[in-house]
Amino acid sequence: MATVRASPDITLRAVLCNGHLAGNIASFASGGQTEVTYWIDRALWGKGIATRALALLLELVPTRPLYARAASDNAGSLRVLQKSGFKAAGTGKSFAAGRNQEIEVAILRLDT
Ligand SMILES: CC(C)(COP(=O)(O)OP(=O)(O)OC[C@H]1O[C@@H](n2cnc3c(N)ncnc32)[C@H](O)[C@@H]1OP(=O)(O)O)[C@@H](O)C(=O)NCCC(=O)NCCS
Repeated sequence: MATVRASPDITLRAVLCNGHLAGNIASFASGGQTEVTYWIDRALWGKGIATRALALLLELVPTRPLYARAASDNAGSLRVLQKSGFKAAGTGKSFAAGRNQEIEVAILRLDT
C-alpha cells in the first residue's frame, strides 16, 4: 500500500459514508492510459455512493481521456460509469481473479 500511495501514476482514496469506510476508488496508469476503478461495501450498494465517489475523483484527477473497464455483465458498474459521462469505447478480454476465468470486459472512455 505504501508503494501504491507513493506512485505518481496512482490516485487512491478511501470512500467514506457518514464517517465510516465504505470502499475505495482510484485512478492508475496502465498501458499508456489512465483508468479508474472502485469498490463499495456490498451492504451499502444502491445508495449512490460509487457515483458520488467517482464525481469527486473526476474533480481530483484532470487527466482526459480517462478509461474504465468493467465486466460486460456488471450492470451496476456500467450504470455508474454511464451516469458519470463515460461512453462505450469497445470490448476486450481480461482474466477476472474473482471468477478465476477470462471474461469479456466493456471499455468506457470519458473525454471531458
Ligand atoms: C459497482 C459498484 C461500485 C456500485 O456501487 P454503488 O454505490 O451501489 O453504485 P451507485 O449506487 O452509485 O449506482 C449504482 C447504479 O447501478 C444500478 N444498478 C445496480 N445493479 C444493477 C443491475 N443489476 N442492473 C441494472 N442496474 C443496476 C443502480 O440502480 C444505480 O443506478 P441508478 O442510480 O440509475 O438507479 C458496487 O456494486 C461494487 O463495489 N461492486 C463490486 C466491485 C466492482 O464491480 N467494481 C467496479 C469494477 S469496474
